[in-house]
Amino acid sequence: MNPSVFAGLFYKAYVRRDVDAALRLIDRIGRAVIRNFRSPWPQQDWWHDEAFNAYLGRFGELEGHNMERRWMVYQLGRLARDVPGDTAECGVFHGAGSYLMCAGNRGTNKTHHAFDSFEGLSTPGPDDGSFWSKGDMAAALDGVMRALAEFDSVKYHRGWIPERFPDVESLKFSFVHVDVDLEQPTRDSIEFFYPRLSEGALFVCDDYGFSTCPGATRTIDQFLEDKAEKMIALSAGGGFFLKGRSVAPAGPGGTFR
Ligand SMILES: C[S@@+](CC[C@H](N)C(=O)[O-])C[C@H]1O[C@@H](n2cnc3c(N)ncnc32)[C@H](O)[C@@H]1O
Repeated sequence: MNPSVFAGLFYKAYVRRDVDAALRLIDRIGRAVIRNFRSPWPQQDWWHDEAFNAYLGRFGELEGHNMERRWMVYQLGRLARDVPGDTAECGVFHGAGSYLMCAGNRGTNKTHHAFDSFEGLSTPGPDDGSFWSKGDMAAALDGVMRALAEFDSVKYHRGWIPERFPDVESLKFSFVHVDVDLEQPTRDSIEFFYPRLSEGALFVCDDYGFSTCPGATRTIDQFLEDKAEKMIALSAGGGFFLKGRSVAPAGPGGTFR
């Protein structure tokens, strides 16, 4: 970047508190490092939702890049509250996603089912790219139990996906969140839960559309190829479908066409 342009933008942004200059400066720096980098509008009310910020703080997520997806999962989960069935998360880590789902279940008779090895990721397959390694994202079960202690109806299913799915084979589900980063457990999860989703149920995959999770994105698209439902790819990453709701097709990973 031209140093005098940089200095001008920095002066306007930092000294004059000019929001537009600040965003242009951030975008220029971002694009110098990350292709097509783009910053969000800063006038978003949800940034200042104190109760939501307290939730993020509880899981150490007031910094980092998960907060927008957390907000969307919270909002999407509201679609599923009156749909019959339990909720489930495949890939729990420290419990931040399950916390949102349990909070959404308050005042209902739903049970939340948490599936995880609690030993981190399984071995990546040939189509999972090079970002992940076996054992990444390991979190201890007792820490998750402490994080979710305020909720009465949580069941933990410890083991490698899909070993513990038979525990819930006779149940129906209103909201399933799949977040295991890799192709095979994502495939196992959608194959198991799809027929158990009630009409109108919400299926979210946190990893959909991330270049770090190519196998998860591809296997979901492949699974839905002969179904009416297709993934809606979210702007902050991740995607969802509603069971029984057909949507217009898009390119692979929800790409524009
Ligand atoms: C990205 S983290 C999940 C994050 C969590 N959903 C959240 O909202 O914070 C991925 C989780 O998937 C689990 N996992 C990955 N592969 C698995 C497998 N094959 N079987 C069981 N758990 C697995 C890991 O142990 C890890 O906790």
